[in-house]
Amino acid sequence: MIKRQKIYEGKAKILFKGPDPDTLIQYFKDDATAFNAEKKAVIEGKGALNNILSEHFMKGLSSIGIPTHFLQRLNMREQLIKSCEIIPLEIVVRNFAAGSMSQRLGVKEGTKLSRPLVEFYFKNDELNDPLVTEEHIVGFNWATQAELEEIMTIALRVNDFISGMMHSVNIKLVDFKIEIGRFFDNEFEKLIIADEISPDSCRLWDSLSGEKLDKDIFRQDLGNLIDGYREVAKRFGVLPNQSFSELKEVTK
Ligand code: TMP
Ligand code: ASP
Repeated sequence: MIKRQKIYEGKAKILFKGPDPDTLIQYFKDDATAFNAEKKAVIEGKGALNNILSEHFMKGLSSIGIPTHFLQRLNMREQLIKSCEIIPLEIVVRNFAAGSMSQRLGVKEGTKLSRPLVEFYFKNDELNDPLVTEEHIVGFNWATQAELEEIMTIALRVNDFISGMMHSVNIKLVDFKIEIGRFFDNEFEKLIIADEISPDSCRLWDSLSGEKLDKDIFRQDLGNLIDGYREVAKRFGVLPNQSFSELKEVTK
């Protein structure tokens, strides 16, 4: 067996060196964590579903000219991605109040916001990813003013497009988180969407019943997380045929 070189291991994914210097292999684990890993579980099938769904959303974004790190899905658990320099921000866009914003500001969950709201969190587990302002971002050199403006534009375009995709399958995009990286194309720097876009990183509610189809199922103990993720994949026509136990054979 060929041993690959692990570059980074996060809570839900592992990055390995790719076949070329500017590529990486992104492996989706079955591990689920919440509240900065205070709550943990291994949920069989989660990695495969996130891999397929992230591919689907990233391809959709590329099709409208929003560059992403996605290159090719390699198997049920892994995808080939462009290596980029991650900007240390979690960029959250909200259409309806939920989660930490409802808690922080006392806005009832589900309240429609008058316009999409973009928030930035400093990506730092030790500090519990604190909410930061544009002043902090530029002041601490996490991103330049010009990058920040582009990040805002990208975040709102992603929101418009993914909201539309979700709407077409009767799902409400309540909020989501993206990460953005710098990709160097010769001397040019380009900002690209990195990490993943999946039910782990979005809040997705059924438009009619309001049923939650995302990681809040796990965070709030609402039932079987896989049922929610499978439902999302089924609506987009990307649900894998194989059973999840058959998918286990791809090992680290
Ligand atoms: P929040 O309401 O907990 O701040 O989450 C906002 C959105 O960002 C929600 O769709 C879940 C997603 N998110 C992540 O993907 N990773 C995280 O670490 C956190 C805190 C939120
Ligand atoms: N904060 C992430 C979440 O709740 C996961 C984690 O921090 O463990 O989505």
